[in-house]
Amino acid sequence: MKILVLNGPNLNLLSERDSVQYGKFSLVSIENLLSKEFPSHQFTFYQSNLEGELIDQIQSAGTKKYDGLIINPAGYAHTSVAIRDALELCKLPKVEVHLSHIGRRENFRQVLLTASVCDGFISGFKEKSYLAAVYLLEKIIVS
Ligand code: DQA
Repeated sequence: MKILVLNGPNLNLLSERDSVQYGKFSLVSIENLLSKEFPSHQFTFYQSNLEGELIDQIQSAGTKKYDGLIINPAGYAHTSVAIRDALELCKLPKVEVHLSHIGRRENFRQVLLTASVCDGFISGFKEKSYLAAVYLLEKIIVS
């Protein structure tokens, strides 16, 4: 399967962020972990701090013949109507990922604008959230 993995703002600095919330992996380590755990899949990894760049990637994902999309919109999950609209338009199977356990965090993070237009979301398993997302995408795609 061809899977696009999108990561939003500040995840490029993951190894400098609060390890209690986000774990100890850098973003590159997570990407390497996915490639190692799922050698039969072809991953494309993309990170941006810019809302419009993420939207461009989501819009072109269908035409680039990916089988599925994994997205951690980071802070945009709580604020971006525009990313939500782009995800809604994208007909690929989609799983939203959060490293931290959103349910245990601040009130302003409890609104997830983007998750409801994905097939589902995973939160709280740190780097393993991404592994679970690939597992679930496989199940959605083959069923
Ligand atoms: C995050 C959670 C968001 O609330 C936060 O803004 C992030 C990372 C996570 O992976 O847990 O940047 O998406």
